[in-house]
Amino acid sequence: MKGFPKNCPQEIIPELISYLKRLDQKGIKSLYLAPSPTSSKDTDVETVVPETGMGFEKKTAPATDTEKDMKTTPANVAKRLAELESKVKTCDECALHGGRTNAVFGTGDPETRVMFIGEGPGRDEDQKGEPFVGRSGQLLTKILAAIDLRREDVYITNIVKCRPPQNRDPLEEEVRCCERYLVAQIELIKPKLICALGRIAAQWLLDTKEPLATLRSTENSYCGIPVLVTYHPAALLRNPGLKKGAWEDFKKLRSIISDE
Ligand code: URA
Repeated sequence: MKGFPKNCPQEIIPELISYLKRLDQKGIKSLYLAPSPTSSKDTDVETVVPETGMGFEKKTAPATDTEKDMKTTPANVAKRLAELESKVKTCDECALHGGRTNAVFGTGDPETRVMFIGEGPGRDEDQKGEPFVGRSGQLLTKILAAIDLRREDVYITNIVKCRPPQNRDPLEEEVRCCERYLVAQIELIKPKLICALGRIAAQWLLDTKEPLATLRSTENSYCGIPVLVTYHPAALLRNPGLKKGAWEDFKKLRSIISDE
């Protein structure tokens, strides 16, 4: 799945990506798109406008109010994330909503370069309505500090927004119901790098069933955004022997975002 054309309506992109992922899983790798009867070769010319003030004329028509609203200014991103969060808070699309205290949307800086994606809220997160605040979260916060990042500097969220019972892996249908929210978060935040924390996040982002060990050792991307795969902090707590490898991953992460 490559980038979407500039004139693609932003609000349909999350649903579109979910749909294309489902087709992909069924083995459908490409689609024939008939030309739209209203398409014109002038529609994608926004990129020709330099910001240098050198007298080039903007070739596009002035933006309408709706188009302006779609523009990803920090204020609009914050507004649209807030709207999305309120949808998540009242979502009842899958059975997980019945067991939650709080849905856990995501937290951090929407203008960040790096987005961390875990699996799903645990007990502490369900209680507080915030991701990675329990033991795993405390470890994540320490690892971030070791590479000079604060939680507030990054964006942290999960594949599913409601706690699976007994912290079991989220079921396929639960992930399918919830993925539109994550797709929309990624679309809005547009991180330069995604860090997948653990197998569940990595397999969803990369549309694969390959084991974590394979995904950690390969170069990966999601819709053109590089994806760095590492261990889930809970795995590091269970098996401290994995910490050395995780540290290598986080040093790599630091160097990727510093190079940007
Ligand atoms: N584990 C996760 O995957 N996410 C959280 O938010 C907390 C623990």
